[in-house]
Amino acid sequence: MITLSPPLHDCAPDIESFEAEALSGLSALEKTLPCKYFYDAYGSALFDRICDLPEYYPTRTETAIMQQNADEIAALIRSGSLLIEYGSGSSVKTRILLDRLPRLAGYVPMDISREHLQRTAARLAEAYPHLDVLPLCADYTAEFTLPAACRPVRSHVVYFPGSTIGNFHPDDARTFLTHIAEVCGPDGGLLIGVDLKKEAEVLNAAYNDAQGVTAAFNLNLLTRMNAELGADFDLTQFAHRAFYNTLAGRIEMHLMSLTSQIVRLGGAEIQFGEEESILTECSYKYSLADFAGLAESAGLQVRKVWTDTEQRFSVQYLTPKS
Ligand code: AVJ
Repeated sequence: MITLSPPLHDCAPDIESFEAEALSGLSALEKTLPCKYFYDAYGSALFDRICDLPEYYPTRTETAIMQQNADEIAALIRSGSLLIEYGSGSSVKTRILLDRLPRLAGYVPMDISREHLQRTAARLAEAYPHLDVLPLCADYTAEFTLPAACRPVRSHVVYFPGSTIGNFHPDDARTFLTHIAEVCGPDGGLLIGVDLKKEAEVLNAAYNDAQGVTAAFNLNLLTRMNAELGADFDLTQFAHRAFYNTLAGRIEMHLMSLTSQIVRLGGAEIQFGEEESILTECSYKYSLADFAGLAESAGLQVRKVWTDTEQRFSVQYLTPKS
């Protein structure tokens, strides 16, 4: 059987934005790179492998919470809703919802990783023949427009799993949640996965797996800059470093320079000292009270929280305050 891939709505960042953002991050006093650039086709495949690692508890914990409460969660999403997923990846957890929501106006998987998104959308269209699958390739931190559904949309429900909200600094998370509240509108809601504060050992292990998949995921940023921006990073001279910063309440991932070296990128020369690092990702961990406060300040109200017995992870349903 031939299944046609659903047409892609494309608002993805261009190569010029990648170069400009890389140069500006690497020119700063404390070097950084935006974590969204982890996700090219290879990076998305590596992320899928991370989700299956024994040390990486978030995905399996979130999936179990979704499965255990699937009917209750699905009941909150009314028929005629447009389900919009931010950073849909392989849409694995989403299937738990889709299996129980035959009357959606449509499903918009949104991801920055184009090929990965198209493959996922094609698989979903095949598995759910009555679902209007509307893939949107976009950086959801930038401007994008929603694709038009063929059925009438009665409300918008945003699904933002994986605790990807943790990638934002709390002030930016507030701004971002405010935007989401606008997308939801008064009749909609937000279903979000939020990772919780816990022992540093568990957190450190989750971002320093024994197989080195997270290290490969982190280093792929350098591979991408070499391939796409003509940079000359020597991959043997940088190392993955990740740790829980207890004071800031966040995991930090870095790429640490093993020597003093100069790297060329887009006509610029970037100087690295020995052990100087590039901050590539923050992953903030919240207490339930902290997150409720953050949501409140973004005009959202927490309506329901589901967790696992160890309170490692939470799935939460929020609605805009009227
Ligand atoms: C998908 C952003 C939530 O922060 O745990 C996994 C990404 N980075 N291992 C996370 C990630 C390293 C992940 N998020």
